[in-house]
Amino acid sequence: MSEPNKVGWKPFFSLISKSKLPWGLYILTFIVMISTASVTLMSPLILQKIMSGEIFDAKLVFQYIGLAIVTAITVSLSGFTRIFANARTTRNIQNTLWSKYIRVPLPFFNKEPSLLLISRLTHDPTHINGAINYTMSLLMSTYSLVGSIIIMWGMNVKLTLVLLPVIPYILIVTLVVGHFTQKTQERVQYRYSGMTAFIAERLPKIRLIRSFGKEGEEIENGKNVIENQYKADVSRAVVDLYGEPLLQSVQGIIMGLVLIYGGYLTSIGELDIGSLIAFYLYSANIHNNVQQYGLFYQVLKGAKGAAHKISKIVDSDSEKYERSKAFDEVLQSSNGNLALEHVSFSYEERNVLKNVSFTIPKGKVTAIVGPSGGGKTTILSLIERFYEPNVGRLTFGNIPSEQIHLDDWRNAFSYVSQGSPILSGTIRENITYGTEREVSDEEVIQAAKKANAYGFIKDFPDGFETEVGEMGSKLSGGQRQRIAIARAIIKNPKYLLLDEATSSLDIQTTTKIQAALDELMVGRTTIVVAHNLSTVQEANHIVVVEHGMISGQGKHDELMESNKLYRELVEIQFAKEQMLAW
Ligand SMILES: Nc1ncnc2c1ncn2[C@@H]1O[C@H](COP(=O)(O)OP(=O)(O)OP(=O)(O)O)[C@@H](O)[C@H]1O
Ligand SMILES: [Mg+2]
Repeated sequence: MSEPNKVGWKPFFSLISKSKLPWGLYILTFIVMISTASVTLMSPLILQKIMSGEIFDAKLVFQYIGLAIVTAITVSLSGFTRIFANARTTRNIQNTLWSKYIRVPLPFFNKEPSLLLISRLTHDPTHINGAINYTMSLLMSTYSLVGSIIIMWGMNVKLTLVLLPVIPYILIVTLVVGHFTQKTQERVQYRYSGMTAFIAERLPKIRLIRSFGKEGEEIENGKNVIENQYKADVSRAVVDLYGEPLLQSVQGIIMGLVLIYGGYLTSIGELDIGSLIAFYLYSANIHNNVQQYGLFYQVLKGAKGAAHKISKIVDSDSEKYERSKAFDEVLQSSNGNLALEHVSFSYEERNVLKNVSFTIPKGKVTAIVGPSGGGKTTILSLIERFYEPNVGRLTFGNIPSEQIHLDDWRNAFSYVSQGSPILSGTIRENITYGTEREVSDEEVIQAAKKANAYGFIKDFPDGFETEVGEMGSKLSGGQRQRIAIARAIIKNPKYLLLDEATSSLDIQTTTKIQAALDELMVGRTTIVVAHNLSTVQEANHIVVVEHGMISGQGKHDELMESNKLYRELVEIQFAKEQMLAW
């Protein structure tokens, strides 16, 4: 996994300060953890007194049992508060990220694959929690370690001195084992993401795979990806195979030293049996606590990396919604014309639009025509303000678009796109999506009728309550489009952006959709990317877009005279429509 290496702590602290962490809960957790550590430090001392066999005191036994009960309670309590705090941290970070995803400008999504964005939200917050938990554990371990050594020192200096050199050894072993564990674990995760991405991309394209007879090849590709993951899992297991004995050896060495040298000291009367037992228990503390330091580097590196990735998203600019002018205000005080003025635009490096200028008069139909890939949909995206021009500007009533409230702007427009996006849910929910006011059943039926969708909707057993499946998978392309048209009719926008589908539907469906679109266009300022001859001919103004440039504009008759490309497009379309009708 390509973790950013030279990442500082700034993103981490900036993220936790933005995410309103439940500090109270963390402090409570820490206090309970320290109490547990204190009780754990006290227990062997009582055991020492009981085992020394000088006098039998039942009170001591009760104390010992009491401490065991207290430990059980504090351990479960700190477990609870810690998980509770972690859940809150995760939730807060996820909320921050999600709000950002919804508000971030669209170019962001051209750069980041959505699976990665999902993992940012589901997986990365665990690293942040990891670092906070780890810091608390480390503080507790330090307390426990220092406490143990002080108590051991008080019992027997010689035996303590013999044990101290083991500490660097434990550190080295845990660092080395930790390093390999981390490396192989990263590989497991990386390959796992790779596998998820592979499957997630293939499943929705299963029809494509079958229709091109690629089953055998894809089975092999999938097997390779799965095999890679399997190999990563195995190498992770091999690290455990060698690592675990090494870690256990540390425990063995400590126990051996305590029992041999401690046993000897007992035999010559320098240590009583109770102290030997207590010593034995404290020495286990050394092992467990020093181990924590071995993980230091990995946990913090993971947290820094995750915080960096999350912060990059959280700290990026959102779309700017708050601007002085309301759309309606401008509409009333101006001619209400939209205009692109010397607009150039590129998605990435390549220029898609070059010096495009034209006016969209209020209340009229403006058609954009031109060959595929010329930049027609891009023009609509700019008008919808999904993207901003690199050069030039978009104006409404002579006011630059950036000065007009974005929410308002988008509310005034409806965009019926080539793809007609449909969400999972019912047909009714899809038709009313994006309309804030209450919509009556009657209104939904009327919209469906106008969109030429009522016929097929009522043929479904559940009518408007029919679940459309993931991304509308239970609907045909033409049905999806008519639902999108009904949605636009309900929204009742002043300005309409239409991207006519190029896909060749059958003549009846095309006619139905065309009729629905004509109905939708009535009384609205419409900008339509048109493939249909009748739409083009009836438009008040036609703009011909070719390779990102405007090669001509005017009325149908004028363009037939002056624009060669336009003439060709019309002739091809005419021939096509003749064929379809035939
Ligand atoms: N999100 C994107 N990122 C990068 N390039 C893009 C993106 N969308 C479109 N393009 C490129 O911009 C150019 C114009 O695309 P656009 O979708 O505007 O064409 P179009 O005129 O609508 O074509 P069609 O008639 O086929 O719908 C194309 O070359 C395309 O490759
Ligand atoms: Mg297009």
